[in-house]
Amino acid sequence: ELAQIGVTGLAVMGSNIARNFANHGHTVALHNRSVAKTDALISEHGSEGTFIRTETIEEFVAALAKPRRVLIMVKAGDPTDAVIEELAGAMEEGDIIIDGGNALYTDTIRREAAMKERGLLFVGAGISGGEEGALNGPSIMPGGPAESYKALGPLLESIAAQVDGTPCCTHIGPDGSGHFVKMVHNGIEYADMQLIGEAYNLFRDALGYTPAQVADVFTEWNDGDLESYLVEITAEVLRQVDAKTGQPLVDVIVDAAEQKGTGRWTVKAALDLGVPVTGIAEAVFARALSGSRAQRKAAVGLASGSLADKPTDAEQFTHDISRALYASKIVAYAQGFDQIAAGSAEYDWNLHPGDLATIWRGGCIIRARFLDRIKDAYEDNAELPSLILAPYFRDAIENAIDSWRRVVITAASLGIPVPAFASSLSYYDALRAERLPAALTQGQRDFFGAHTYERTDSEGKFHTLWSGDRSEVEA
Ligand code: 6PG
Repeated sequence: ELAQIGVTGLAVMGSNIARNFANHGHTVALHNRSVAKTDALISEHGSEGTFIRTETIEEFVAALAKPRRVLIMVKAGDPTDAVIEELAGAMEEGDIIIDGGNALYTDTIRREAAMKERGLLFVGAGISGGEEGALNGPSIMPGGPAESYKALGPLLESIAAQVDGTPCCTHIGPDGSGHFVKMVHNGIEYADMQLIGEAYNLFRDALGYTPAQVADVFTEWNDGDLESYLVEITAEVLRQVDAKTGQPLVDVIVDAAEQKGTGRWTVKAALDLGVPVTGIAEAVFARALSGSRAQRKAAVGLASGSLADKPTDAEQFTHDISRALYASKIVAYAQGFDQIAAGSAEYDWNLHPGDLATIWRGGCIIRARFLDRIKDAYEDNAELPSLILAPYFRDAIENAIDSWRRVVITAASLGIPVPAFASSLSYYDALRAERLPAALTQGQRDFFGAHTYERTDSEGKFHTLWSGDRSEVEA
């Protein structure tokens, strides 16, 4: 019997996805650089389904039904290129290579073009949901040639998470689009985590709550419009007690956040596209700042000022924080969707934001009740200029705005850092402003560099003769 799918790279994500395919009745060919991992998977989980054990790439490829479908689950970067090269050498025209790692989308564009020349279909698939998702149902974002989805779609959809009977997997668009979208997903994940962290910090430092008390608040929030995987696991992390010290685990963990790179990529790409993803950028920078351990150590004890106005009504402030979190989260998603629209335009991908909201409702790290609202918003109006302008979100922010401001004011007066709450609020205020100080920026640029400006009352470009008689000329 030949396998419907092959998986190469059997670390945790790869093994779990292979098992997920097998659990759904597909025969799975297994390959790993060292055979020990393949054997371990078969000895521990072989009874879950039908696996074919292979040692060499040739054996692996020969075990697959045509068109051959191979999912690569190895480290992004050079290791991925090496495996692709080996596979391409052994495969035939019309076969499909799927890269399920967190690849940089520009690498995926390059690889897809190279494989196309060799008659192979290359699919860059973003896969989200961590280890548990890989096993029980991830959210899958496959890009690549549309024809690849005919042979691959049903297989991927069968192992994806399902929400209301709809699989969390759809063909995203050409070449690098799947990995681009996964990258922005991760950027939003960073923003969401940072916002949750700021909320947590306010409970600790403004209200003096213990981690367990904050956990209770998050558990309660998970019953309302903030319901999400990240809010749910936050409560679990905060409730965890360290066996060694008896302290809350969160107080024992070093407060320096690491990153593997997808958040940083999101911001870099956004800079090139000219899209202000301020929430994601603040989140990436907040991780970097937390990691500047020597600087932080040297700065402890710097002046804080004395405008300490602790909130007196804990219930009111808890409500305020929940609204600041919700409103800032809307901003982060709005910005992420703006970046997806900009990427789509830049690369001619023709992406559909509503589809993304649909497949992010389950399986992935940012899954949340809120995604249903985003899906509805794009169903009502696929051309929304900003998610913030959808009636539901516009009203949600209107209901949150005073709370949001109170949180930022309180944090500033107490000296508690809230970079993402504060910058999201400023973004919102800038977006809705009738006039921005950018007019002054243009005046300054014209002054020192004759860079010209446009006028509000007539067409064309103008320049003021700043070092002459200061009359205006048309440029
Ligand atoms: C997911 C996660 C996953 C991974 C990130 C973590 O969607 O399943 O985003 O891709 O956990 O790589 O990223 P950092 O290590 O950069 O925080």
